[in-house]
Amino acid sequence: MLAVLLFAAFWVVLGFSVFFLGVRGGPSAALATPGARGSHAARRAMTWVFVVIYVAFGVVLPALFLIGNHNSANGQVGGIKLTAAEKRGREIFGERCGLCHTLAAANAVGKVGPNLDQIQPTEQLVLHTIQNGCLQNPPAGSQEACLGYGTMPADVVQGVDAVNVAKFVAKVAGQE
Ligand code: HEC
Repeated sequence: MLAVLLFAAFWVVLGFSVFFLGVRGGPSAALATPGARGSHAARRAMTWVFVVIYVAFGVVLPALFLIGNHNSANGQVGGIKLTAAEKRGREIFGERCGLCHTLAAANAVGKVGPNLDQIQPTEQLVLHTIQNGCLQNPPAGSQEACLGYGTMPADVVQGVDAVNVAKFVAKVAGQE
């Protein structure tokens, strides 16, 4: 919203500047205000004013808003701020887990496994599940015992990636 207003403001300022110059009979006439006719200092001042306006509206503000949008697109889910590790976890989740699991915060709508927004697993459970996988009919006391809905392969992701995914899932499941 603010970005749109500033974008509009840029063109309004530009439009008025052109109009002003035109009414005064071109840049040289516009710059030659009474008492400053032919003054180099005045011309230089005007030039700097325009340079500043162009840079501020044309470069700095758009850049700031692009950076701002980028950060909020990647760094927040439903008002929850993600750490760098959790952001990485979200990317990996999208690549490796989203096919099978639903998780709103990762825009994942997989239906093979349980909906993680509903079961809201802890970080430990996610990590344990990733490392061991799930069997539909595991032997008693097996590490691969899960909910009994189906089979999930072990080690879909490993090491730091698995930890990051676990952190991310535990933080956002059921929050959005
Ligand atoms: C090939 C499909 C598939 C993929 C890929 C997959 N899962 Fe699963 N997941 C399942 C199924 C099926 C179950 C249910 C197993 C059961 O009920 O025994 C499950 C169960 C789970 C559970 C619940 C475990 C419990 O005991 O409650 C969690 C947490 C989980 N998955 C997280 C993940 C994460 C994180 C990833 C990505 C690293 C992932 N899954 C990738 C199919 C998948």
